[in-house]
This record gives sequence, C-alpha cells and structure tokens, in this order.
Amino acid sequence: MTDIATTLRPIPRARVQAMKEYHPPLGSRDTLRLDFNENTLACSPRVREVLGRVSTGDLTRYPEREPVEAIVAAHLGLSAPQVALTNGVDEAIHVLFEAFLESGDELLLPVPTYTMYEVYASATDARSIAVQAADDLQFPFERLVAAITPRTKVVAIANPNSPSGSVATHAQIVEITRRAPHAVILVDEAYFHFHGETVVDLIGTVPNLIVARTFSKAYGLAGLRLGLLAGPVELMRWVRRVLSPYSVNSLALACLPPALEDTAYLDWYVAEVLAARADFESALDHAGVRRWPSRANFVLVEIGARHADFVHLMRAAGVLVRDRSSDPGCDGRVRITIGTREQMSRAIAALHETLAALNRQGAAQ
Ligand SMILES: Cc1ncc(COP(=O)(O)O)c(C=O)c1O
Repeated sequence: MTDIATTLRPIPRARVQAMKEYHPPLGSRDTLRLDFNENTLACSPRVREVLGRVSTGDLTRYPEREPVEAIVAAHLGLSAPQVALTNGVDEAIHVLFEAFLESGDELLLPVPTYTMYEVYASATDARSIAVQAADDLQFPFERLVAAITPRTKVVAIANPNSPSGSVATHAQIVEITRRAPHAVILVDEAYFHFHGETVVDLIGTVPNLIVARTFSKAYGLAGLRLGLLAGPVELMRWVRRVLSPYSVNSLALACLPPALEDTAYLDWYVAEVLAARADFESALDHAGVRRWPSRANFVLVEIGARHADFVHLMRAAGVLVRDRSSDPGCDGRVRITIGTREQMSRAIAALHETLAALNRQGAAQ
C-alpha cells in the first residue's frame, strides 16, 4: 500500500502540462503603476458610497446577476438575454472558448495581442493560429482573412489591441464576420472608452459576432472583476451553459449600476487620459523614442536591446512599465500605461532620467 501511495500521483491533461505559468507583474505601493493598463486614479465616488451601504444580507445570499444584467443590457441598447456578466473579460474569454473550441478547431489570433487568448485556448484541444502583424503593428486584415479555413471556430480581435494600441475598423470587422460565418468573431472592446468606436450596434443583425467589455479599465474596477459578453441570444445561450451562475459576486453587482450611471466621471477620466497621452507622446517624440500610434490608454515604445535595463531603471525612478519583448514581433518594445496628466509628468521625468542613465552607461562601455 505504502509503495502505491508514494509512486502514483494525479497527472493533468497533456495540454495543461504544456501550458506556461502566468506571472502577473508585482506592484509596490510607492511606485506609479503604468504596467497594467488599469485606471491609475480611482473609480467613481458613487461606487464608494454604494460599497459603504453593503448589508449583511448582501454577503450571506448568493448573488443575483439577472437584474444587473438587465441594467447593463439597457445601457448598451440590448435585451437582457443578449448580455452575460462575467468575472472580468478573462472569464468571458475562458467560457467562450470552452463553449466553442474543441479538438481539430482553430482559433485565429492576430498577434501581438492580449496574452490570455493564447492561455485559455491552450487549455482546450484547439489549435491557435497566429497571424503576425507587420512592423507597423496595424491590424493585419488581409492576412487574417487569408488565414480563415473551414476549421476556424473563433477569431479573437482586441479592439483597440494590446500592446500595440492599433484598431480594426467597423467595416473590417463586418467583412470578417461575413468571410467566417461558421466562426464566432470575438471583438474584445476592453479599451473601448479611449477609442470611442464600437461594433455593439451590429449585435442583433450579425449572427456570429460577440463583443466583450470590461469594467477594469476606464471604470477603475479591476479589483472587483467585472466584464461582459454581448451577442445574439442563440450564441449567448451556449455561453450561459458553461458560465458559473455565481461567478460575479454581490459587491461587484452592487457597484455596477452606480459606475454605469456616473457618466460624468467616466467622461472626465477618459478626457484626462487622452490629454495625458498627447503630452506623453510629444515627450517621446522630443526624446526621439519611436512609438506606435495608440487608440487606448497605453503607448508601445521602441527601446531596443536595452529594454530590460530600461524597465529596471524606470522602476528605480518610481515608475512601473511593462516589457513586451517576448510578444511576437515586439523585441525591444515596452508598453507604458497612460494615467493622469500629473502622473504622466512624473513618468516623463522618469523617462528623461532613464534615457540619460542608459546613454551614460552606453558611453562608458
Ligand atoms: C484586450 C484585453 N482584454 C481583456 C483584458 C482583461 O480584462 P478583465 O480585467 O476584465 O479580465 C485586458 C487586460 O489587460 C486586455 O488588455
């Protein structure tokens, strides 16, 4: 008996064994966190008020998502059955892939893009097909369309995309839904508020389009884990089969309506970020740092071979930024989240300090 107990052990699926571990970057309270594309300031004060009124009953009972789903659906101009709230867009991606991807299927991914598509796809038995963007990192529309096969089951498009900040147009997305009628076209609008363009208007008329939205970015609620999928009722029905009925907790559900109502706060934050992005982009241009045009609350910059030193020195100067060098086609590139103008003037000072230090080190070598 003892021998069996020591030699036998549970073995996960081969696909899971092949998966890489995901290590989110660690933050520190004293640094300016420009590494995760969150809201860098705060959520609406109305959310704080509602949190203060949470009752014991709210905590003892299982959460009821349907009434809040109806509010969110109305906000998007949709019906409640067309919308499913999720524990962040990450859960949304997970359940969508679980519902639609099986052995022999293909997931089409324009790359570089958000890492979690690949992570959740690798937990299914489907194959990920990466469609590489050119050096300008624009949405690789032609290549993506050419890569559609009868096996394509899901196409995942982050719009705006991370880490590039580039976008696919409304017309391009419509065309992709037409060219792959047998596939779910997931348009992840996590950064919608900074871009201002959406394909939510197509829900109801396009049968294979699903849109994801998050409350982690402009709304400033990343810690609550709130996201959603919106799509045709027939597709949403399958998604709901695999979605836990209680994955969105009561606190998150209580906070969602005041967050949605406070459009003045959201508009103010987005305008602040867009102004700060313009300031930061001119500082980059002045410093001669190559950057990619961005429609989101972050900018991808070219640092080159010293990218790891750059990230390290920025951290020493009190600013966390994200090395994206291991993303396909992103060697030497670093992504910097845009916060408020005040925060970005600190980031600009850190940038100058860091570039000067790199120059000094380079000269000394
Ligand atoms: C494109 C994209 N989608 C989804 C997410 C994650 O959203 P959530 O916090 O709702 O899981 C991110 C986070 O960085 C993202 O960049």
